[in-house]
Amino acid sequence: MDHSEDLNWKIFFEENSKPSHFDENVKLIFEVCQQAAIKKHRVALVTSGGTTVPLEQNTVRFIDNFSAGTRGSASAEYFLEAGYQVIFLHRSKSLEPYSRHLVGRSIFDMIEILPENIIIGQKHQVELRTLTEKYQQYKCNLLMISFNSLSDYLWLLQATTQKMQILGPLALLYLAAAVSDFYIPASQMPCHKIQSSGGPLSLSLQLVPKMLAPLVTLWAPNAFIVSFKLETNETLLESKSKESLEKYHHHVVIGNLLHSRKVYVILVDRSSSPPEEIRLSDSELESGVEIESKIVENLKERHTKYYANHKTG
Ligand code: PMT
Repeated sequence: MDHSEDLNWKIFFEENSKPSHFDENVKLIFEVCQQAAIKKHRVALVTSGGTTVPLEQNTVRFIDNFSAGTRGSASAEYFLEAGYQVIFLHRSKSLEPYSRHLVGRSIFDMIEILPENIIIGQKHQVELRTLTEKYQQYKCNLLMISFNSLSDYLWLLQATTQKMQILGPLALLYLAAAVSDFYIPASQMPCHKIQSSGGPLSLSLQLVPKMLAPLVTLWAPNAFIVSFKLETNETLLESKSKESLEKYHHHVVIGNLLHSRKVYVILVDRSSSPPEEIRLSDSELESGVEIESKIVENLKERHTKYYANHKTG
């Protein structure tokens, strides 16, 4: 990392103001971390969903990306079931743990009208009972914090990882959000809605500083850190994932391709070459196995070893 990159992340926070409700959210995050540290409870920060890049300060238009938050919301469930406290930092209105199973279905199709009341129809009862029971069981271990824009996300990411320092190696960071690499600095953004009467629009976007650099070295130096590398070109996946690990010196880079991300990932770490792969078979897919269950199982094992080494070393 050169010196200019070192400074760029600081400039980003100087130029972009904190999101609304920032202090309240950070207080909630700190309380969770404090309690978990006392109980020696593992905490996973799961980031999820896409980040928006506003084009105007009074935002009418923004640039967005494809992420629905499937990876993050599914993984959050498996971390909870694996015994973690979860801080779920997610794009507002993207998929959330447990309720994600109901998205795209109409409540009206699940309800039966009886003469004096309404009930959940027979064929939905088992599924809804199971989901509700799981939600009730795990909700006390789940803190959900939402963001919309890239800048909101980065402010919350910085604050959350800094608060998680109190947990040392009990903290696991799972950075599955789809983070924009380009943005318009607040100082270069028009205040009001861009008028079409001005003719065709040309945009000039600046590079977003890579926040993995300060995150690994300054914000959460003792946490177990897992980042994702998204590519669309299969021939680049392994080399780009390795490059990321070499550059930031964290623990695991999970490489995935846009079109096969639900069935195939590679896990790049400092020791295994070639990288470990997780691939769902057709029969697993048909029976509803989700790749996130296997990713989380794999990471839990790695985190356990990391924690044990940290304590002894
Ligand atoms: O939500 P789904 O539809 O299920 O999709 C899941 C996913 C494909 C979004 C997810 O699996 C994934 O790959 N997330 C990471 C996407 C991403 O931002 O990739 P990247 O190659 O642009 O960035 C690599 C890493 O750098 C990321 O961990 C990111 O957190 C980090 N980063 C990115 C930009 C930035 N300015 N600073 C960063 O630190």
